[in-house]
Amino acid sequence: MKNFISRILNSKLVQQYSSSPEVRRKARFKLLNRYAKKNDLQLYRHNLIWYHDEEFLRARAKSITGVPDDRCFTLLDLARKTRAIAGDIAECGSRFGRSATFMLTGRGPASEKTLFVFDSFEGLSEPTAEDRLEGGEAYWSKGDILAPIEIIKENLKDYPKVQIMQGWIPARFPEVADRSFSLVHIDVDLHQPTLDSLEFFYPRMTTGGFIVCDDYGSEHCPGARRAFDEFFADKPETVLHLTTGQCVVTILETSRPATA
Ligand SMILES: C[S@@+](CC[C@H](N)C(=O)[O-])C[C@H]1O[C@@H](n2cnc3c(N)ncnc32)[C@H](O)[C@@H]1O
Repeated sequence: MKNFISRILNSKLVQQYSSSPEVRRKARFKLLNRYAKKNDLQLYRHNLIWYHDEEFLRARAKSITGVPDDRCFTLLDLARKTRAIAGDIAECGSRFGRSATFMLTGRGPASEKTLFVFDSFEGLSEPTAEDRLEGGEAYWSKGDILAPIEIIKENLKDYPKVQIMQGWIPARFPEVADRSFSLVHIDVDLHQPTLDSLEFFYPRMTTGGFIVCDDYGSEHCPGARRAFDEFFADKPETVLHLTTGQCVVTILETSRPATA
């Protein structure tokens, strides 16, 4: 497979096609895309501008392992779009801090917003019946995706206004009970901590803010999707399923308590 791809990329056909690197890039895309399609896969379109976004590239240059590029761009852009909206940022499930890095970049320089990072740093909690795949076991087991806290501390050390809250969700939520939030990213893969996060943060969201779930569209995480669908079934907000696998909820004014 590796040989096949490098043969395509270095083929005379591509090299001779044009002396322009951009034209050669398009030719490589065309060839690889044809191969991907035949195998029921998809490539990112070469003409999409998000992949060249300056802030995106800056965060990506940190080379932290984790959430894929397309989902990180969603988070970066949502952090940018909520700069002017009051409220802090929270992440439930941060591992090495990759998605956190994109939100920190997106919140902008000298931001007043604090990023609160909630994670056990002992991996996933115990899956429940809600996490079982159709007719079988849960995909995940307790302790999966374990990451020692020292790694995220190192990865986020240059960013001001970051608070790492180690512990099992929802144990440390009460410490931020008096705050409001403009952006919350939930990435804990399982039903119960996803639901706990929604129950705590939803009433604390500011109008125009966003709640994002990394796991909504993953076939490995049916419990996370159930938690979102059940929680929002009686709310005015819509759960928008993105092709990245994420879902996004925009907080509406009608769901916020009226101020006197
Ligand atoms: C998929 S990883 C997060 C990936 C991360 N957002 C990134 O940028 O790569 C899931 C994280 O959720 C944490 N986690 C899962 N269940 C938890 C729970 N019940 N309480 C606290 N943390 C939990 C795990 O420790 C793990 O670090």
